[in-house]
Amino acid sequence: MSATTTRELVEIDERRLLRRLDDLAQRGALAQGGIYRALYSPAWSSAMELVAGWLKEAGLFVRRDAVGNVWGRIEGSRGGRAIVTGSHIDTVRGGGALDGALGVVAGIEAVTSLWDRFGRSTRILECVAICEEEGSRFNTNFWGARAIADRLEPGEADRVRDADGMTLAEAMRSVGLDPATAAGAVRRDIDVFVELHVEQGPILEDHGPRLGVVTTIAGTAHLEVTVRGQPDHAGAMAMTRRRDALLGASAMTLAIAETAVRMGHPAVATVGTIAVEPAQVNVVPGIARFTVDARHTDPARRTELLTQIGDACKAIARERKLDVEIRTLRDRPPVTLSPRIADVLRRACLAAGMEPRDMTSGAGHDAQVLTAAANVGMLFVPSIGGRSHCPDEATTADDVVLGTRALATALRELAYQM
Ligand code: GLV
Ligand code: MN
Ligand code: MN
Repeated sequence: MSATTTRELVEIDERRLLRRLDDLAQRGALAQGGIYRALYSPAWSSAMELVAGWLKEAGLFVRRDAVGNVWGRIEGSRGGRAIVTGSHIDTVRGGGALDGALGVVAGIEAVTSLWDRFGRSTRILECVAICEEEGSRFNTNFWGARAIADRLEPGEADRVRDADGMTLAEAMRSVGLDPATAAGAVRRDIDVFVELHVEQGPILEDHGPRLGVVTTIAGTAHLEVTVRGQPDHAGAMAMTRRRDALLGASAMTLAIAETAVRMGHPAVATVGTIAVEPAQVNVVPGIARFTVDARHTDPARRTELLTQIGDACKAIARERKLDVEIRTLRDRPPVTLSPRIADVLRRACLAAGMEPRDMTSGAGHDAQVLTAAANVGMLFVPSIGGRSHCPDEATTADDVVLGTRALATALRELAYQM
């Protein structure tokens, strides 16, 4: 089929879709605004129960895998490798109602509508609510998708901890999962994974159209930078004799951002956390420790960005007579998504009367990890004001519906082949 063939746009139940997004947003809603569904927390369990209920209500075969990903499945009449859609259920702290949630709820709506309207698919068709993507609670991320793609590290569940010192393995046991069986989540029978997601940036809103097909996802490095100076009396030590670790870290923070600005789009670099020791109002900070999130879609440019960040931190440390240590916490390369699935998504967008924009994603997604296990495609809808990872994250109801209908149309082409 050529990329210009127009298909019929699949109908969905718009009111059910929007109501369910609202219902899911209540699970983990914070009194001060925003949502926090941390992996294996009560809010997470409650969201997963809600989702499992919707999948059962649709008449799908529902199961929870060894790490807690929840799957709903239509047994295709011709079997073979599965066509899967979905996204993650967890959120950042104080996140919004759509990051991950849209791909889960829209995936359920698309699969339910296809089942209701066209009956059994020829291919196995599944929807998955992935247990964790954000890295919000534990010092690790993409836990759910990596479990599916056989990318968990040996001993990882016993090694990584949350801020209270609980290991991931202990947290798994608290929700009835056995960390020793985590390998049971591996899937080697997925043909295609398609994820609908909010863009989380301003390109579609600023330049249109209302649908984007992702071709590349940026690679992300997470660094931990420790700056060591000298703790001193905040009243008595002369300003000119101090070795203030926080002042060094502050200069480094500015230099890191400037490095990405100088390199230009799509280079980005963010200092997202910082802590000082001894953290007392009347003591000059002796240690400052901060994290860096640095991204680029081009592998060589990303390496250059990381080199420049490291050089800038070392130069500032030398100038200020500080010590600096840079540790790589994790490093995920950029990935290219499947051109074949991108074409399927383009045809679905054309069925909606729209030539989609080809775009790169600065945000990380389960889709990038699942490229190790499947042919992967991603569809974006606009984010109002480009806002995400915050309580104001939003997309118009029309765009949520449009994206879900395009997703359903793509899944129809993929899973209902004769
Ligand atoms: C997750 O949303 C990330 O891009 O870090
Ligand atoms: Mn997401
Ligand atoms: Mn996110």
